[in-house]
Amino acid sequence: MDPNVRPDSMERITNFELANKFIEEQVAAVRAQVGDKKVLLALSGGVDSSVVAALLIKAIGKQLVCVHVNHGLMRKGESEAVIDMFGKTLEANLVYIDATDRYLDLLAGVSDPETKRKIIGKEFIEIFAEEARKLEGISFLAQGTIYPDILESVKQAEGKKAVKSHHNVGGLPEDLKFELVEPIKLLFKDEVRVVGEALGLPHAMVYRQPFPGPGLGVRCLGAITRDRLHALREADAILREEFANCGLAEKVWQYFVIIPDIKSVGVKDESRYEGWPAIIRAVNTKDAMTATIEEIPYAVLHKIVNRITTEVEGINRVLYDLSPKPTGTIEWE
Ligand code: XMP
Repeated sequence: MDPNVRPDSMERITNFELANKFIEEQVAAVRAQVGDKKVLLALSGGVDSSVVAALLIKAIGKQLVCVHVNHGLMRKGESEAVIDMFGKTLEANLVYIDATDRYLDLLAGVSDPETKRKIIGKEFIEIFAEEARKLEGISFLAQGTIYPDILESVKQAEGKKAVKSHHNVGGLPEDLKFELVEPIKLLFKDEVRVVGEALGLPHAMVYRQPFPGPGLGVRCLGAITRDRLHALREADAILREEFANCGLAEKVWQYFVIIPDIKSVGVKDESRYEGWPAIIRAVNTKDAMTATIEEIPYAVLHKIVNRITTEVEGINRVLYDLSPKPTGTIEWE
């Protein structure tokens, strides 16, 4: 039986009873696989790596070492949430690395989207490898691979081209060859969420909207600057807050702000004021291959526009992107 193929007999995990059964099986399987050895996990704070972390903490406690790399391209409050949940509440063995300066220095002046992605992905592997070398006696690498990732890599192996390069922890250097621990690799996303809640992770963390690996880096268009990135992070936090306030957060698949590298003339305190536009995108999709636009009520839009233009330094206009995928992709880069 191929361990990377979901057996037809595997029941879809739709409730806590099935989730708890899955957790029990995986706890036993992980213990049998790793014994008393140590396991390393790149904990991004995304749903998949968070669920793997919670599962492994349950199975092997302090034998798990979580590494959270803050590349400076996280949304507002995200790294703090990882530290609170895993470092404090679950008392995990957590290594936190603030690599903001390192990333922003490397990315300074780089405007090509694929080059930005490659730099972000490569640097991640480098930092993660540096940490792995510092830690003694690690034998295993845990990954939040899920079933759609396996299906996607099968498609790519068959020669179908990806539109954008995505990054994960694959491709560690030769001297760091770990055995993989992938406890959720046969699960679909909805099942991962049920398992996450059964493990006691907060609803907001488990139902977090998808967030690209390169983070805000592909939403701060062109060459990233610290001031524009800061404006993007603040505007995005306002959008998320307002979506949560009006019940859209749970309904819309992905919603975020993009800031292009252009300025327009505006007026503030009766003087000319050149600022960036913040672009709002809110899309619904099943598989991210195509996407439709969420119709945000005008009153909500007005409130968001008002808050972003008055609260965020550097932004003087807010635009709403109504383009579906295709022809637009979900992200702008
Ligand atoms: P696009 O922009 O291709 O996005 O329509 C489809 C989905 O993929 C996410 N995305 C990424 N995820 N690394 C990731 O892990 C990436 O480089 C990347 N680029 C896009 C995007 O947010 C959307 O959910």
